[in-house]
Amino acid sequence: MAVQTKVGIVSVGEMGAAVAKLLVAHGYTVVTNITGRSEYTQKRAAAANIALLGTDQALVEQADYILSIVPPRDALATAKRFVAAASTSGKSRAQPLYYLDLNAVSPGRAKIIAAEFEPVASSVRFVDGGIIGGPPKAPEAGIGSAAASSEPGADWKRPSIPLSGPHPLPDEHLAKVLNTRYLGSNVGAASGLKCCFASMIKGLIALSLQSFSTAESLGVYDELQIALKHFQPHIQQSTTRMVTEIPPKAGRWVEEMHEIGRCFGEDGGWNNAKGGDGANVYERIAEVYRTIADDTVLGKERQEHRVRGKTSEDVSIALSDALHGKE
Ligand SMILES: *[C@@H]1O[C@H](CO)[C@@H](O)[C@H](O)[C@H]1NC(C)=O
Repeated sequence: MAVQTKVGIVSVGEMGAAVAKLLVAHGYTVVTNITGRSEYTQKRAAAANIALLGTDQALVEQADYILSIVPPRDALATAKRFVAAASTSGKSRAQPLYYLDLNAVSPGRAKIIAAEFEPVASSVRFVDGGIIGGPPKAPEAGIGSAAASSEPGADWKRPSIPLSGPHPLPDEHLAKVLNTRYLGSNVGAASGLKCCFASMIKGLIALSLQSFSTAESLGVYDELQIALKHFQPHIQQSTTRMVTEIPPKAGRWVEEMHEIGRCFGEDGGWNNAKGGDGANVYERIAEVYRTIADDTVLGKERQEHRVRGKTSEDVSIALSDALHGKE
């Protein structure tokens, strides 16, 4: 690469830092605005070889691409910040800046965010996107070199990144490294696909939490596990594993469940179902995750210490206790 492509990441959470490592490993320069972030985040950014900048303005002026990877509730405000930074930037660009919104928002929300970019359309191109799967992981030393020669990034364990909107990525190498799939020109297609995917997994976990905690309250938790193991061994295995991972994540998922509810209601047509509100399952599922995050001992502790519940029964007991006022 003659001139190194620079990718800005907002922000350097667990996913953002892992995406940065993937990009750095494939020759990209990754930059972020670090001002005001915790020491922990600064260290995480340095460990990922991210170049640290002081302002949004600097990020807009230096980056060729910006990836927005923030909690869903911050997606719109983040976009507005970068539109403001781009519109006050005096720097004239040879190439437009690509702003990829990779956040877990509904298609309707993605369209609202896209509209923010209209005033800066000559210099910034909005791309709708989503992240399906967990953070990228480097190949273990010594394996994967065969795959590396075929497709850049193929030897990494990577999430899939659907993208959509009128502006496909011009940099094919970057599109491959990020494991993107271009779904066509409609803003909202990529966000919608992410909603449909996430709804399956996060919906199943919420149903498991309600089932397990109710079984706990009834004193039949072990019997439920025996029945599941016998009749649905795969579901028993995956749900008990996933449930243990929930306490530190539950708080972050509340807003995402509302976004999925919006997607199903507005785009899937479920707002038109005769039962009205009753069809909007994900508004209720948001409440399941809110309960774990805010009302259980485990949720509060786990958010602070970022560790998992020991067993799915721990999580079920914590929920059952919180719901019966026994903290
Ligand atoms: C980035 O830059 C702006 C000023 O341009 C600042 O207000 C903001 O807090 C910075 N930090 C992060 C982490 O975005």
